[in-house]
Amino acid sequence: MPDHLPQMNVLLIGSGGREHALAWALAKSPLLETLYCAPGNGGIEAVAKCVAVDAADHGAVIAFCREHDIDFVVVGPEIPLVAGLVDDLAQAGIQAFGPSATAAQLEGSKTFTKQLCDEFNIPTARYGSFDNAAEARAYVTAQGAPIVIKADGLAAGKGVIMAQTLVEALAAIDDCFAGSLGAAGSEVVVEEWLRGEEASFFALSDGKNIVPLLSAQDHKRAFDGDKGPNTGGMGAYAPAPIMTDELIACTMSEIIEPTVKGMAQRGTPFRGVLYAGLMITAEGPKLIEYNVRFGDPECQVLMLLLKSDLLSALLACAQDRLDQVTLEWHGGAALTVVMAAKGYPGAYDKGSEIKGLGKAGALYEVEIFHAGTARDGDKITAIGGRVLNVTARAGDVGAAQTQAYAAVAKIDWPQGFYRTDIGWRAVLRENEGSQ
Ligand code: AMP
Ligand code: GLY
Repeated sequence: MPDHLPQMNVLLIGSGGREHALAWALAKSPLLETLYCAPGNGGIEAVAKCVAVDAADHGAVIAFCREHDIDFVVVGPEIPLVAGLVDDLAQAGIQAFGPSATAAQLEGSKTFTKQLCDEFNIPTARYGSFDNAAEARAYVTAQGAPIVIKADGLAAGKGVIMAQTLVEALAAIDDCFAGSLGAAGSEVVVEEWLRGEEASFFALSDGKNIVPLLSAQDHKRAFDGDKGPNTGGMGAYAPAPIMTDELIACTMSEIIEPTVKGMAQRGTPFRGVLYAGLMITAEGPKLIEYNVRFGDPECQVLMLLLKSDLLSALLACAQDRLDQVTLEWHGGAALTVVMAAKGYPGAYDKGSEIKGLGKAGALYEVEIFHAGTARDGDKITAIGGRVLNVTARAGDVGAAQTQAYAAVAKIDWPQGFYRTDIGWRAVLRENEGSQ
């Protein structure tokens, strides 16, 4: 360590639980002078200065960076990445963590990713990609059901239809081309339905070097037993017990490395965090999709497990020197339980008060990350669908689950709900392993 550490002003973009976890980790950095967050939330306010800058207005972000001597911008969500915020910041001479708009197409266009998989032999579901309903319908009719229909573009988690029957599949195609998902559905990808267990794997890349992070699993359905409507994620844990060293090595060599090499070879290097959604099939891991940002709520568990300085790692990533980075992790596991407003993912009320956060957060190795709250003095109110991420670290997933739910029990928020079985699959696997 040099005697005089450079003190940096950092601007974090986003307002969810992911950004609270990133802000919490960035705030611990010895490199940090001041952390700003645009727009932030009621929890982020405790570790950063929240500022009302609209990330969609790149000119406003650049002006803010100039006024406040921002040395580094960390972009949390995918929408500003796909919209080219990092490119515009680079043009203005401001360093940022996250991919260019072209590299963000790995999340922004399913066809882009499928074509990359074809070109570089990356294992994924067989597919067809279509810009008109007639050809898509003919393909689906030839393939038969069950089959998966996907809108090509960003559709806020609503763009995937798992069709059990041909009738459902054809209706999904017609809906997409009729504009039910807006511009996201003007192209449609039709995919083979992969069977297996899902897991996520995260890695940093500077365009050439790769630093693997951890695996994780999340629960997308709203209710216990993985039932009910799809959500942004009701809980997550890391690492994923299904991801053995052998499966991680295979994911790195067959999926992550060819992606990074392929993107570089095409002249569009990927800098940022690659979040690979995987299906662990009988034939090995296959890529379901890429995201080009940390997962939410997966990021919350990764940050609780990360021992090394996050800011140095993200900076090294943006400066093409990840070869100098080795990350250290806490042993054991972390688990997060999402507390959501009753009604989510449908309509829900805003403005209810949440109490007991101090007591819950004081439990050993527990952090409460806020996803959708506002703060007024000491009063915290719910203003979003997903509202809190009650996160704990412990010796294994089972122990982290116990601790996270002990914290949930201390939170007094009658207008909220949560799943009571986050981590069930991993806990089952751990229990089987210990017999
Ligand atoms: P995506 O937005 O592509 O991640 O899809 C959302 C979810 O749909 C995934 O997490 C999977 O549960 C499911 N899914 C997507 N594609 C497939 C596929 N080809 N086979 C099986 N499940 C899939
Ligand atoms: N937890 C799923 C996502 O961040 O996309």
